[in-house]
Amino acid sequence: MAAGQTKNAAARLFQAAELLRQASRAYAFTGAGVSTESGIPDFRAPGTGLWSNPELLSLATGDALRQDPVRFYSAFLPQWLRYRKAEPNPAHKALADLEAKGILSGVITQNIDGLHRKAGSQTVYEVHGHLRHLVCSDCCETANFEVAVAALQQGTLPPRCRCGGMLRPDVVLFGETMAPDFDRAMAELHQGCDVMLVVGSSLKVFPAASLVGFADCFIIINLEPTPLDHRAAVVIHGSAGDVMPRIAALVLSQ
Ligand code: APR
Ligand code: ZN
Repeated sequence: MAAGQTKNAAARLFQAAELLRQASRAYAFTGAGVSTESGIPDFRAPGTGLWSNPELLSLATGDALRQDPVRFYSAFLPQWLRYRKAEPNPAHKALADLEAKGILSGVITQNIDGLHRKAGSQTVYEVHGHLRHLVCSDCCETANFEVAVAALQQGTLPPRCRCGGMLRPDVVLFGETMAPDFDRAMAELHQGCDVMLVVGSSLKVFPAASLVGFADCFIIINLEPTPLDHRAAVVIHGSAGDVMPRIAALVLSQ
């Protein structure tokens, strides 16, 4: 526990709210844990998470997509369709509220599910990409994601661009460079970030997790301990859908 961290749960909520209220440039940094309460399993969940499925994990690479696109799409498309149907939960909504009220300057997310935008967040940096459209591997033209759905239903995977090139999801696979939003987020943080609100991330995946290091101080909200808990100003072990609305209510009640 870092110096100044308190053991009292209510005091930690107040401390987090106070830090956010006093911040001039606060950002949220979110991971898969912010979306589990929307029915999307995180990556480390035993049984359902990507990391507990070695076969799926080995397919989540740019090489696997190029070598066997039909296998790649057959493995991931069903779960991506569930992501696209998911609805934001109270944690996403609390973050959107905090931005609307001028407390947060934006949300940096590792998630590709689009739920922050769906909840109303306006400034969102999706550092691992998103599922709003597909992009051609050859000519870079974009296409509606429904083209992949149609190809799945018609047995014509992988989806093809008008130029004949393969359409791929606009997400960052293992071994690939980060999405342009990663550099944009870093540039924003370089302008200053006095408080980072880290919600639902194991903080084990780099380079995304390195962005937390740009903040003068950070608050961690996560179900379980993370490797950066000892450096956080406040650590709250709880569910994002429960904790975030409580913090937002405290910040906005003053
Ligand atoms: N509330 C708070 N924390 C939660 C909740 C919840 N409801 N549900 C799960 N968590 C916590 C878990 O305990 C875990 O520590 O969220 C964390 C999620 O960690 P990961 O699954 O590792 O997700 P993330 O940090 O986003 O991983 C980053 O890993 O596989 C890659 O590219 C993928 O973007 C992903 C990246
Ligand atoms: Zn093309």
